[in-house]
Amino acid sequence: MKRYYLTTPIYYVNAAPHIGHTYCTMAADTIARWKSMQGYEVVLTTGTDEHGQKIERAAKAVGKTPREFTDLVSSEFRDTWTKFNLRIDRFKRTTDPAHHKKVQELFLACKANGYVHKGAYTGQYCVSCELYVTDAKPGDPCPDCGRPTETVTEENYYFKLSAFQEKLLKLYQEQPDFVQPDTRRNEVISFVKGGLSDLSISRTTIKWGIPVPDEDKHVFYVWFDALTTYMSAVEGENRWPADLHLIGKEIIRFHAIYWPAFLMAAGWPLPKKVFAHGFLLFDSDKMSKSKGNLVRPLPILEVVGADPLRYYLLREIVFGQDGNFSWDGVVNRYNSDLANGLGNLVSRTLSMITQYRKGKIPSGAGAQAIGELADQVTGQVKEAFENLQFSRGLEAVWTLLSAVDKFIVERAPWKLVKSQDPGDVAVLDETLYTAAEAVRVAAVLLSPVIPDSARKIWQQLGMVTPLENVRLEEFVWGQLPAGQVIAPGGGVFPRLDLTPTVDRIAELEEKEKLRQDVLVGKAPQQEAPPANNYISIDDFSKVDLRVGKVLSAEPVKGADKLLHLKVDVGEGQPRTIVAGIAAAYKPADMIGRKVVIVANLQPRKLRGLESQGMIVAASLEDGSPVLAGFHEEVPVGARLK
Ligand code: MSP
Repeated sequence: MKRYYLTTPIYYVNAAPHIGHTYCTMAADTIARWKSMQGYEVVLTTGTDEHGQKIERAAKAVGKTPREFTDLVSSEFRDTWTKFNLRIDRFKRTTDPAHHKKVQELFLACKANGYVHKGAYTGQYCVSCELYVTDAKPGDPCPDCGRPTETVTEENYYFKLSAFQEKLLKLYQEQPDFVQPDTRRNEVISFVKGGLSDLSISRTTIKWGIPVPDEDKHVFYVWFDALTTYMSAVEGENRWPADLHLIGKEIIRFHAIYWPAFLMAAGWPLPKKVFAHGFLLFDSDKMSKSKGNLVRPLPILEVVGADPLRYYLLREIVFGQDGNFSWDGVVNRYNSDLANGLGNLVSRTLSMITQYRKGKIPSGAGAQAIGELADQVTGQVKEAFENLQFSRGLEAVWTLLSAVDKFIVERAPWKLVKSQDPGDVAVLDETLYTAAEAVRVAAVLLSPVIPDSARKIWQQLGMVTPLENVRLEEFVWGQLPAGQVIAPGGGVFPRLDLTPTVDRIAELEEKEKLRQDVLVGKAPQQEAPPANNYISIDDFSKVDLRVGKVLSAEPVKGADKLLHLKVDVGEGQPRTIVAGIAAAYKPADMIGRKVVIVANLQPRKLRGLESQGMIVAASLEDGSPVLAGFHEEVPVGARLK
């Protein structure tokens, strides 16, 4: 049987999973499913990178041993992938003893071939943080604690990377596919052409690491240890070399330069391809721990679901390039493409078959033009997905869906059904068959990207063989069995209301952030709230409630529930506030009105506008808002206490 082995990076355990990790792992899962459809026996590995001084210190800070700490965070990763239903075949941890053995083997092989030597490593060291500060000059301060760094020299093992310049350039030349996309390949080539220095691969200042064979004090330094998981994860399975290492662009150098050099030095086979995807920005801003704007994956899973998130990420962003991520974006894509597009076509088709043909797929070959388009789209998807151009492939599927929508409107089955003319009966049969077969084709092509939803659609069509058994090479238009009884269920993608959905994600994100911060020791354990749920006066006084006067109000384009307000809060400069009150209040009625606003709420971007506060309103049972106000005159800027 054909085999395919792909990997994601193994993630550091100094942070809990965020949307960047999720993006990479979901994309890998999509590729794994795509390859399975081609008949490959696929193995996908991921895991956690657990050694090094930072982890040692993070553990200490929360009063745990490194082992206890890494167990905890590593299982966060594992559990997250399980919750997202990602098909992880092997989950490898660098703390696994079998992995240690492989790293030591790699080292001994490199050493035996003359590519390892001892030397002195000199760097800027922060004694207080017990960390080297890379790229620092003598006297530079430590970025973590600000104390001056000291120049320290220690004995290290070095890997002779400098011996591999020519060999690496030859590799990139002979296998242009080895590093992809081309922008990254060019970057790597020019880096290697610039000259390679030998690489320090051990440390004597660290304890939490894999011991170097026959040495008391040395442990391997992160990358020599980490990259080797790609082999130890499938040790004894005769599966190496990997077909694909999927990574983010910031670690391309380690994968496209160090890793093949280590393997060449050991005389071991090289992976076939390294593909680097781009970085996700959140609301057009770089995500980082220090900015506190990392997006966590579980709230989106809970509110929107895994499939819509996968679809959004792979449709919206050209794989390989950087892209923007926003909650509004996820919900809007969901509504436009999944609820109104695919979901609507499925429910429309199934309900016509139920009403007009008693729930049985009529016989007929399907309309030729749509059949041809479906085969053409299948070809486009195959080519695009094979080149990891997911957005292009998905776009192609939607050209088919729109063509079918148009086809249904043109044929007007609701008119045909009223006619007894045998010609009209046949045209109606053909129309219904065509729509249902197009839905089947879409379910197959989309199944690597939205696996759960595709399976639901497949089952609603009444298909008997499992979707997982479909093989691409045997898959063509016209295989939907006539006479098959459909099994319509509920809507696959019920529409979502933008503002409440985004608000709910934001609310869950806050909680999830706190939970993760507690886990990695960035926030103290919260005391359990008192049983009566009272808050203290201090808690209440943290909320800055103020009187504001609306200066202007206008609708927000494309968002029926939102108003864009300018509100004078007595600060000189009015504030922009985006409020979800458009269903209950006309813009003209808002102007001049006094309102209560929460003035110290974290600003948030909605539809490209930064909302700098929230208007206080009662929320009625049907969700409609009633603004808080005053019976007496009250000056702008007054505080509510
Ligand atoms: N432990 C190393 C990798 C060792 S592989 C042998 C590491 N870990 S990491 O936790 O920092 O994860 C890095 C990976 O997470 C990136 O390569 C990328 O796949 C993903 N991402 C992290 N932040 C990201 C974004 N903002 N956007 C997209 N992906 C990002 O480096």
